[in-house]
Formats: sequence, structure tokens, C-alpha cells
Amino acid sequence: MPAVTSPEQLFEHELQDMYYAEKTLTKVLPKLAEEASDRELSRAFSSHLKETEGHVSNLEKVFRSIGKTPEATPCPGIEGIKKEHDEFVRTSSPSSAMLDAFLTGAASRAEHYEIAAYTGLIEKARALGERDSVKLLQENLKQEKEAAKKVEAISKRMLKASNGSKTSNGSRSKSRTTTK
Ligand SMILES: [Fe+2]
Ligand SMILES: [Fe+2]
Repeated sequence: MPAVTSPEQLFEHELQDMYYAEKTLTKVLPKLAEEASDRELSRAFSSHLKETEGHVSNLEKVFRSIGKTPEATPCPGIEGIKKEHDEFVRTSSPSSAMLDAFLTGAASRAEHYEIAAYTGLIEKARALGERDSVKLLQENLKQEKEAAKKVEAISKRMLKASNGSKTSNGSRSKSRTTTK
């Protein structure tokens, strides 16, 4: 990696990192959509794939607006989230319900990683007076926040349903709602 000694260079480095992360996610999301048994979750992955393709193209526009060629630099952060998923699937033989529950958590981790990255990029772009970049990055950030909310709502719904099914079997989960 070339030396990073100015805010402009750091901004460019973080853009390259995110460009790598988004491109990785365009390859991962179709697999997650296939893995998910829950239809709403699977659809959420497919629709976020389309948004993610837009994130890649917005980042390319940001590169161009600062006079740079789009370039990706490996992002160990997103690779780590991906690796965690791959190892869980490979070693845990999860039931389909547990795989779905795991996938909501993995997706939430990825979205929050992206939210943190875009929040930082936007602050840097603003400090550098790169108004067009700020707008483009804000578009991406908004969709990441919506995606995080959506997957977290799906997770809640799944947990509620599994709690409900336990209750109907007469198991111990019932006490939680009745002791208040
Ligand atoms: Fe994204
Ligand atoms: Fe995302």
C-alpha cells in the first residue's frame, strides 16, 4: 500500500476498501438468498443485492468525482464476516430455522459494518468539501440503514414465532409473557 499521509489519501484508501466490500457483497448476497428458507429473508437478500449493485456504481462515481480510477483494496473486515458465515455453515450442520436465524445476524453485522464505514466516509468527504461525494455516499448509507432495520425486524419476527411455537407445545417459554 502506498504511504497515506494526507486526508485525501485516507479518503481514497477507505473508498477502495469499501469498493472491495461492496463488490464482495454482490457475490455473497445471491448465495444468502438461496440459503435462506424464510421467503421474506430470501427476498430481502435479493432486493439488497440490487441496491448493492447501485452502491458499487455510486462508489465508482465518487472515484470519478475526485479524479481517481476505481480500484479495490482487500477489506479484511468484510472478509471476516464472510468467513464467520462460511465456517458456521461448514461446521455446525444448522437446521434450516437456525440457519435463517444465523443469517439475520450475519446480515446485521455486515450492514452495521457498512453503516460505520459510510458514516466515516461521509464525514471525510464533507471535511474535504467533496459535495457530490457526500450525496452519493449518503444514498448508500440510507439504504444500508434500511436494510439493517429490515433484517432486524425479520429476526424479531422469527424469534417471536419460535417462542410462540414453544408455547403451543406447552414448554417453559410461556412464563416470560405471563409473569409480568
Ligand atoms: Fe452496500
Ligand atoms: Fe448493505
